[in-house]
Amino acid sequence: MKIAILGTGGVGSALGSRWGAAGHAIAYGSRTPHNEKVQQLVAKSGKQASASSPREAISDADVILFAVPWPVARETLAQLGDLAGRTLIDCTNPLLSDMSGIELGHVISAGEQIAQWAPGANVVKAFNTASTKVMVNPQFGEHRATMFYCGDDAAAKLMVRRLIEDVGFEAIDAGSLTSSRYLEPLAMLYIHLAFRQGFGSNCAFKIMRR
Ligand SMILES: NC(=O)c1ccc[n+]([C@@H]2O[C@H](COP(=O)([O-])OP(=O)(O)OC[C@H]3O[C@@H](n4cnc5c(N)ncnc54)[C@H](OP(=O)(O)O)[C@@H]3O)[C@@H](O)[C@H]2O)c1
Repeated sequence: MKIAILGTGGVGSALGSRWGAAGHAIAYGSRTPHNEKVQQLVAKSGKQASASSPREAISDADVILFAVPWPVARETLAQLGDLAGRTLIDCTNPLLSDMSGIELGHVISAGEQIAQWAPGANVVKAFNTASTKVMVNPQFGEHRATMFYCGDDAAAKLMVRRLIEDVGFEAIDAGSLTSSRYLEPLAMLYIHLAFRQGFGSNCAFKIMRR
């Protein structure tokens, strides 16, 4: 699969190197595609990896990972042009600048807001409830960490489910995109546990059933 990754920060680089190793073609979309850090990331992201401007990176991609900070989400989307019919994975969390809480909640979520800013795109919320350390290695002993995803388009969700599994997570379908209203506060709980309650970022959610 050709995966465009917008943002070469923590999430973009963790998932890009995992997917590149799994044989996907990674096209990083960066504000500075030629700088040394981005070129080093390309070198670790599989034989077919490349970096270019965000618009160029998405041009022939099967799926787009949207991994930029929430405050620049709207302007970044506006630069991409028409995304109708494209599959967009949204991993953003609408964090307040001091990380003490989230900006949106009960009546709309970042996932739904992004879908409104990218009319016609098939937005799937995923990869927002674990740290980049866990994305690099979701295996905890014999257990695979859980990654939730949600969205409104069945084919887009299936594609994202496979990408979640390619990284090594157990994928759990949380329903329609409105479930982003649950997944984003869940990410806030994760951040609270990791950074305020002393768990650190090498912990993950796991669903158990019987
Ligand atoms: N870090 C985590 O553990 C984690 C986990 C789950 C979800 N998330 C969410 O995932 C998203 C990405 O997080 P991250 O940790 O990867 O962020 P990050 O390390 O700050 O990287 C974000 C990337 O976005 C790009 N970008 C584009 N416009 C930007 C601007 N105006 N200012 C700064 N960066 C800009 C940059 O790539 P270029 O310079 O190449 O353009 C940058 O490297 C966020 O919305 C975050 O809430 C993070």
